[in-house]
Amino acid sequence: MRTQVAIIGAGPSGLLLGQLLARAGVDALIVERQSAEHVLSRIRAGILEQTTVDTLHAAGVGERLARESIVHGGINIVFDNTHHHIDVRKLTGAVVTAYGQTEVTRDLMEARAAAGLTTFYESSEVHLEGLSDSRAVVHFQHQGQALRIECDFVAGCDGFHGVARRSIPKDRLREFERAYPFGWLGVLADVPPVSPHAVTYAHHERGFALCSMRSLTRSRYYVQCPMSDRVEDWSDARFWDELALRLDPQTAADLITGPAIEKSIAPLRSYVAEPMRWGRIFLAGDAAHIVPPTGAKGLNLAVSDVRLLAEALIELYVENSSAGIDHYSERALRRVWKVERFSWWATSLLHTFPDTDEFGQRMQHAELDTLTSLESASRSFAEHYAGLAF
Ligand code: APR
Ligand code: PHB
Repeated sequence: MRTQVAIIGAGPSGLLLGQLLARAGVDALIVERQSAEHVLSRIRAGILEQTTVDTLHAAGVGERLARESIVHGGINIVFDNTHHHIDVRKLTGAVVTAYGQTEVTRDLMEARAAAGLTTFYESSEVHLEGLSDSRAVVHFQHQGQALRIECDFVAGCDGFHGVARRSIPKDRLREFERAYPFGWLGVLADVPPVSPHAVTYAHHERGFALCSMRSLTRSRYYVQCPMSDRVEDWSDARFWDELALRLDPQTAADLITGPAIEKSIAPLRSYVAEPMRWGRIFLAGDAAHIVPPTGAKGLNLAVSDVRLLAEALIELYVENSSAGIDHYSERALRRVWKVERFSWWATSLLHTFPDTDEFGQRMQHAELDTLTSLESASRSFAEHYAGLAF
């Protein structure tokens, strides 16, 4: 086969890139390791910045989003058993939107199928060749056949564990990483969310907690836990008790509990690979960087990479200018590092670190106090939470 852009990975990054390119008449094929059902079974965050919502509308997949999503005008921060509200709308003029990443992925998959565009699901042994030559080739196994796609460019949208980043020679790639000494235990439950119009972030000496939602009848809650914990250690009752302990009394009293329909423990990591282009391959989304989930930036950052990359490729094919692709890595990384900083800072601010001394605890407390009482600090937080200008 022959195409202009071979996209590796059908997560939100790969699917959105495929959709934006198709709408501009640029040819692309997608190769995905898993089945579509498997991709849709992964539960991820669900807070969209305004630019993410705008990009999804521009990609023609905003219809259900407009109907079913819920606007959040602010966020809540709990510490010292006290509830604070940061009015993001008032401070910035912008809002964020609650709509699950799984739903974004589903909408993109449906649009792709409706447009008759090809995705090779359940492909194995994907490997890349010719990335520094005049033409790249993607080799893979699909339904018992060995297939190959010749292309001008490869878009590595295959997540943190994918093959794309590993196809760049080691001596051409710099990696920056920070691991955190805890994880998040997440529970999905069909109960009304405790704070339907704002995510609640809680700092407590027992650890961080988060109240989020997927709809007015489905909640997503998290508690910080040691990475050595196993899901089996956490009965539903233990989870709900622990969550309530970490919230302020009013929020805890309003909490409606119910059986967990999903429960998982995820590690927290900050990671960036530079550059995001080498020869004929571009990296986008989790293939290039990971943020810890505090602040819900993972999907939003992936969407901003993809928007830049789509614009750059369209500029090349439609206007015959290579300026966009030549600057893609530099432009994307500038935003990536700012969002990495925010996610790292919010993680440091809100979690309980096993090795923090008493001075460090006082500093953390003073920073929370500053954040919730000084307008310029609240505004800076709100600007980052709502999403930096493009
Ligand atoms: N070949 C083909 N596909 C692959 C390979 C491979 N070798 N390795 C991984 N994939 C697929 C995965 O199965 C997955 O469907 O690439 C896809 C990558 O999707 P995501 O991990 O969701 O990454 P991305 O699309 O960049 O989305 C970023 O997801 O992890 C969250 O916080 C993150 O919200 C952000 C978003
Ligand atoms: C979520 O809805 O799952 C979510 C919300 C906010 C975060 C992280 C996750 O910071």
